[in-house]
Amino acid sequence: MQYRVTLIKGDGIGPEVTDATCRVLAAAGAPIDWEEAPGGADGVARFGVPMPAETLASVRRNRLGLKGPLETPKGKGFRSANVTLRQELDLYVGYRPVKTLPGIRTPYKGVDLVTLRENTEDLYAGIEHEVTPGTVLTLKVSTRRAAERIANWSFENMRYTGRRRIHCCTKAAVVPLADGAFQDAFEKVGAGYPYIQKDLLPVDNLAFELALDPTRFDVLLLQNLYGDILSDLAAGLVGGLGVVPGANIGDRIAVFEAVHGTAPDIAGKGIANPLAVLSSALLLLEYVGEHRIKERVERAVWDVLEEGRHLTGDLGGTANTAGFTDAIIDKL
Ligand code: NAI
Repeated sequence: MQYRVTLIKGDGIGPEVTDATCRVLAAAGAPIDWEEAPGGADGVARFGVPMPAETLASVRRNRLGLKGPLETPKGKGFRSANVTLRQELDLYVGYRPVKTLPGIRTPYKGVDLVTLRENTEDLYAGIEHEVTPGTVLTLKVSTRRAAERIANWSFENMRYTGRRRIHCCTKAAVVPLADGAFQDAFEKVGAGYPYIQKDLLPVDNLAFELALDPTRFDVLLLQNLYGDILSDLAAGLVGGLGVVPGANIGDRIAVFEAVHGTAPDIAGKGIANPLAVLSSALLLLEYVGEHRIKERVERAVWDVLEEGRHLTGDLGGTANTAGFTDAIIDKL
């Protein structure tokens, strides 16, 4: 079986880290044909927008995508490339597993949690207007349909991944209609899964509980804005944005992506850490059921991290992107 996957290399360090990822996957014998498509600055240069229709069509056709970080030119009236991708393809689940990695020094050990973020609504619906000069209104959109479908996805995912505890974290005491509806959907759908432990937790309590002891959490379900913030916080618990993978998943379409940005400060220097994009590609392999290849690459990565001789600068080492990548390929 060959998989055709849309590859959006992205901006800044994007081409460096996606090239490194493709090299590792080729060495592991992953049966993937890449279909390159523009996005970010490349999209603007070639098609006038950061997320061109051609790129969306490619993902729609292949149903699978891998994406490097994208730059949305500021102050030029462009809608964020990432938000456009999620909304146009209706990728309603923001999926981010966060796990303690061997060899990476962090204040916590044994973190193994997943953040699930509703990706399409909330303040990210982008509905704002100026009511009178100096007063603006930004709408927080919350529909029962969106709340129920992410709750359904979450519980179904937990059923077959064996995760058994979920916290739904909102601010329902302050935003009773929007956040209350999200919570209601969670409880309604969750009633069908008596073997999964369900808890409600105010999102501000979640923040301090994560700082005290993140190991007590398994799955976190959040709306768009809270999920954006708390999933970055969760990444910080295990070594930062450079090591955490992510995926945007809808019904039968999924785009996998690193959660870090274009890192303009180190772009073009060949020193970026490719681990986040590589781990996102491993999520893709898991998504299509290629567990054997995924586990083989993951073992090679862990060995390199454990040895600690070929780590990039952000992980406290002195290796460059190529050195780190070659070390993984040697292990394979
Ligand atoms: P950033 O994640 O690009 O950089 C923050 C810091 O982390 C920098 O010091 C950078 O060098 C470092 N860093 C990030 N990834 C790294 C890696 N793989 N290896 C080593 N070091 C790494 O965040 P920033 O500076 O806020 O954003 C820069 C640009 O990226 C902006 O244009 C922003 O819009 C875009 N961005 C795109 C995202 C996406 O496409 N998913 C997500 C976040 C930001």
